[in-house]
Amino acid sequence: MTIIVTGGAGFIGSNFIYYQLKNHPDDRIVCLDALTYAGNLATLKEAMKNPNFRFVKGDIANQTDVNRLFEEEHPDMVVNFAAESHVDCSIENPRLFLETNIMGTQTLMDACRHYGITRYHQVATDEVYGDLPLDRPDLFFTENTPIHTSSPYSASKASADLLVLAYWRTYQLPVSITRCSNNYGPYHFPEKLIPLMISRALADESLPVYGTGENVRDWLYVEDHCSAIDLVIRKGRVGEIYNIGGHNERTNLQVVKAILHELHKPETLIHYVTDRPGHDRRYAIDPSKIHSELGWLPQTKFDDGIRLTVKWYLEHRKWWEDILVGDYQNYYEQMYKDRQ
Ligand code: NAD
Ligand code: TYD
Repeated sequence: MTIIVTGGAGFIGSNFIYYQLKNHPDDRIVCLDALTYAGNLATLKEAMKNPNFRFVKGDIANQTDVNRLFEEEHPDMVVNFAAESHVDCSIENPRLFLETNIMGTQTLMDACRHYGITRYHQVATDEVYGDLPLDRPDLFFTENTPIHTSSPYSASKASADLLVLAYWRTYQLPVSITRCSNNYGPYHFPEKLIPLMISRALADESLPVYGTGENVRDWLYVEDHCSAIDLVIRKGRVGEIYNIGGHNERTNLQVVKAILHELHKPETLIHYVTDRPGHDRRYAIDPSKIHSELGWLPQTKFDDGIRLTVKWYLEHRKWWEDILVGDYQNYYEQMYKDRQ
């Protein structure tokens, strides 16, 4: 089987590629990624050594790039991770989010319709459900929670989900959607809370906590997300949405303090800054559908996962230091200068 994985030079997509190459060694994985600022080809260095892996630089919203790849590869499945993914950037520049997250999804699905496919899978987010109040710990997002978005990012992801469901209903394109809570783990770009705080704490720089730090996120170790998507694309029902989360709710302040504790750094580094506009208060997933239908359960508890993550960042300093100084963006030229 050939699977096109879009956005595979980013955080979750790259972890998914390694998960697939390890667990399904007979499958061919083709990564399509535009290498935006969030894509880092150095992340896929080990995958490049595998003959069942191919990297292609291209834009999911560009019909020529997408159709050429379908004609070359005749994929059985597409798993779409490619997206503009940072809420703060979406507040600064919403348009790019609409182009990649919505038009990119449409372009990929049109190719799937045209060339034929056994599954189109959309990697979605719990942020489509909006937020929950902090004083109602009994409330969780289910697959039936109404869509109610807060940021341009979540609005673009929700629009994409609606398009995916429309392509199922109207054209019977065999689709599935997973909506996951916040991920953390290896290869997480240091613009997001956990890697940002690790890299800044190691440099003894102040740690910018938005507002009061009381906002709650439901953290899932990235490998658990990959195992869930793997199950859904192989055994999940078409036309269905599956929520993914592991009941690991923490306030931002608890997360930052856990990182400081692991690094033996003082809490005086914490610096409260102006809150994010429209900041979602709490995300919390009810994962009972994927558990009861597919038997999925997360393997990594937050206390273990955060320890593993801090350890990974300590052992892979070059990976994130190259990002901080911008060197990673030369990697494509280095890797591909003799191949084009
Ligand atoms: P990321 O920002 O780390 O990676 C995104 C990747 O997509 C990058 O490699 C980038 O180069 C690529 N990309 C961007 N625009 C592209 C385009 N037009 N064409 C081709 N490639 C393009 O993102 P991530 O955190 O790995 O998230 C992956 C997916 O998972 C996204 O769809 C996101 O909405 C979803 N998601 C993320 C989280 C999370 O906690 N990070 C949680 C739930 C869902
Ligand atoms: P982030 O990693 O951007 O993910 P998301 O907004 O998609 O949940 O942020 C996680 C939480 O951390 C969110 O409540 C915003 C907060 N945050 C900070 O307090 N400081 C920061 O510097 C960043 C990047 C995020």
